[in-house]
Amino acid sequence: MKILIVGQGGREHALAWKLRQSPLVGDIFCAPGNAGTAIEAVNLDLGATNIEGIVNFVKKQKIDLTVIGPEGPLVAGLADVLDKEGLKVFGPSRLAAELEGSKVFAKELMRSAAIPTAESQVFSSAEAAEAYVEGREEARLVVKADGLASGKGVSVCKSKEEALDAVKRIMRGREFGDAGNRIVIEECLDGEEASILAFTDGFTIMPLETAQDHKAAFDDDQGPNTGGMGAYSPAPLISPLLMDNIIGQVLVPAVHAMKRRNRPFRGVLYAGLMITHQGPKVLEFNVRFGDPEAQPLLMRMKSDLAPVLMAIAEGRLDEVDAPQWDPRPAVCVVMAAEGYPGDYQRGHVIRGLDEAAQVEGVKVFHAGTEQRGSNVVTTGGRVLGVTAVGDRLGDAKLRAYQAVKAIRWPGAWCRHDISDKARQYLRE
Ligand code: AMP
Ligand code: GLY
Repeated sequence: MKILIVGQGGREHALAWKLRQSPLVGDIFCAPGNAGTAIEAVNLDLGATNIEGIVNFVKKQKIDLTVIGPEGPLVAGLADVLDKEGLKVFGPSRLAAELEGSKVFAKELMRSAAIPTAESQVFSSAEAAEAYVEGREEARLVVKADGLASGKGVSVCKSKEEALDAVKRIMRGREFGDAGNRIVIEECLDGEEASILAFTDGFTIMPLETAQDHKAAFDDDQGPNTGGMGAYSPAPLISPLLMDNIIGQVLVPAVHAMKRRNRPFRGVLYAGLMITHQGPKVLEFNVRFGDPEAQPLLMRMKSDLAPVLMAIAEGRLDEVDAPQWDPRPAVCVVMAAEGYPGDYQRGHVIRGLDEAAQVEGVKVFHAGTEQRGSNVVTTGGRVLGVTAVGDRLGDAKLRAYQAVKAIRWPGAWCRHDISDKARQYLRE
């Protein structure tokens, strides 16, 4: 089987690494990939949103399956174009991808399908949004841009001033352009977060193992939101009983509601949840693997990924076995560039990658990297996802940070507390 992976982050490196291990898979290409995917696959000089270029390549090279990693090309309709040409694709259609591409759509779907989520209101004018914030008793509000904003479109506000400032930045300052034409303002939920992902072809649902992301930039969840500074799997907060509730109250109704709206969801559905005192509530849906959740999840997946992705592309997920998982936990620590999630530096040579790879149980997934001659240099904000398995969570964490210590470039930094949240649920 010839595979094309679309995207260039840590998730795509993890997908390439995992698919490389499949006896069913021959050539793997990445559009455009990074210095890490170049180890497992052939990188192409094709951007992830160059729809025409990608479709031409797939036809010319007779690619058997295109796996779309990021939300951008999904929301732009890459899966539809491939599908129309009779080409097999893992990833939802443009209409199904609106579940992530429009928070207004997602909220409306959740309301109609009685999926538990925060109470919210939609606004399309700054005046109306400001009047609403002013008139609320509750000062803690969450302001969200409707459209895609690289994980940065959400402001969790502790005061009315902060909420008014968020409305101003998005609607008057147009910080996220048209993605901020509408905003959702919702109640702030308390609890612990978890990422629940499930494979689905629109009919059959196959949940993956649980994971937890660390969205805030700094230790103890301080600082601005990022795309994710680290993740671990499993998330012991999610008991088997809670998982059953999530499947019944969130995953099944979401997949069903999408089918009823003629937007059948094919791919991997990601529910970002807050586990509150009243049970799980959905913070957001994503229409793809989480990044960095994919890294520890795929590291723990023991069975072959390729037949599952192909079965989803062909709408016959009911015919394949559910994935087998390594019971050992995995931890992924993101190493970032100085300045991220704001403006950051690029072009530093990364040293110590070979040494890091020697640490037992470790795989260094690349995110924002590029090969320049014999050097690997930084090109993105999130640069590497250093991932490790261990017998216990503590062992996995230790190994990941041991490998992190070996890696150097000017300004490199990471959170130091990835996976510590899980300790309260474990007897390690
Ligand atoms: P989202 O992109 O919607 O997942 O939001 C990004 C992050 O903002 C989430 O991972 C949460 O940490 C936080 N967040 C979003 N919505 C809420 C909410 N209603 N209450 C509390 N925190 C939230
Ligand atoms: N890790 C969160 C996301 O992929 O959106």
